[in-house]
Formats: sequence, C-alpha cells, structure tokens
Amino acid sequence: MNLERTFSMIKPDATRRNLTGAITKMLEEAGLRIVASKRVWMSRREAEGFYIVHKSRPFFSDLTGFMSSGPTIVQVLEGKNALARTREIMGATDPAVAAYGTIRKIFALSIGENSVHGSDSPETAATEIAYWFASTEIVG
Ligand code: CMP
Repeated sequence: MNLERTFSMIKPDATRRNLTGAITKMLEEAGLRIVASKRVWMSRREAEGFYIVHKSRPFFSDLTGFMSSGPTIVQVLEGKNALARTREIMGATDPAVAAYGTIRKIFALSIGENSVHGSDSPETAATEIAYWFASTEIVG
C-alpha cells in the first residue's frame, strides 16, 4: 500500500460561504484522513511565500490578494495514493472544465476563487506541509 501525505487548503471563498464541513466531508469520503488541520488568516507576505513558484505569472497579485482576504483551512491529508486521490476529488483547477462530482465543479466560483488547493507532486507536498506545520502538529 502506497500510504502518502499531501497538503491541502480550503480557500477563503469557501470558508466565507461556510463550506468547510461540506468540503472536509468530501475529502474524508474519498478515503483521506485529516492528520493535521488549522484555520489561518494568512498575510499577503505568507501568501506570496507559499505561492512563490507562481511569482512571474500575471495572476500572482490577484492570487495572493485573494488568499490573504479571509480565513483558510490548511490541512495534511493521509491515505493510499493521497496525492492522486486528492487531486481527483478536487477536480481541475478551472471549475469550468472540472469533472462532475468534484469539489471544484460543485463549489468553485472561478479559476481564481476555486475553493481548494492540493499539492501537485510529492516534493511540493513536503515543502507545502513544512510551510504551515511543525512535525509535532501532524498526528496520524
Ligand atoms: P492552486 O491549486 O491553489 O494553485 C495556484 C492557483 O493559481 C490555482 O489554484 C488558481 O486558483 C490560481 N490560478 C491559476 N490560473 C489562474 C488564472 N488564470 N487566473 C487567476 N488565478 C489562477
């Protein structure tokens, strides 16, 4: 069994609409176990650091402004093939092309306000987990 850990966020558009429970339920029903979770209101600087790989993209300012506009739930998810499973249940980045039944198809408002984030590789997951959590905060 390929037991993995990945990083996920429930973004400000979703916390604003009181969707934390509904999205968490979908993650758990997809077979993922939440082994760390906290609610943060990240600063613009924290958002810029987290999304540093997108620094040269035209949407960087909108993205970091949005991510610092309200509370976010940062989480560590554990499960068999957790990376692939998380991305599958979240759906495509753009809700317009996300598959039916996915979190983004159901809840996302736009490509920017797309309700959730999931790591795209094991290396990214390790970096993103370490950005928000001390190892003592992760309890499997
Ligand atoms: P996320 O998975 O958090 O990773 C980077 C984010 O950038 C992505 O989700 C989107 O919310 C955002 N993003 C990607 N492309 C665009 C775009 N064209 N316009 C605005 N935001 C974007």
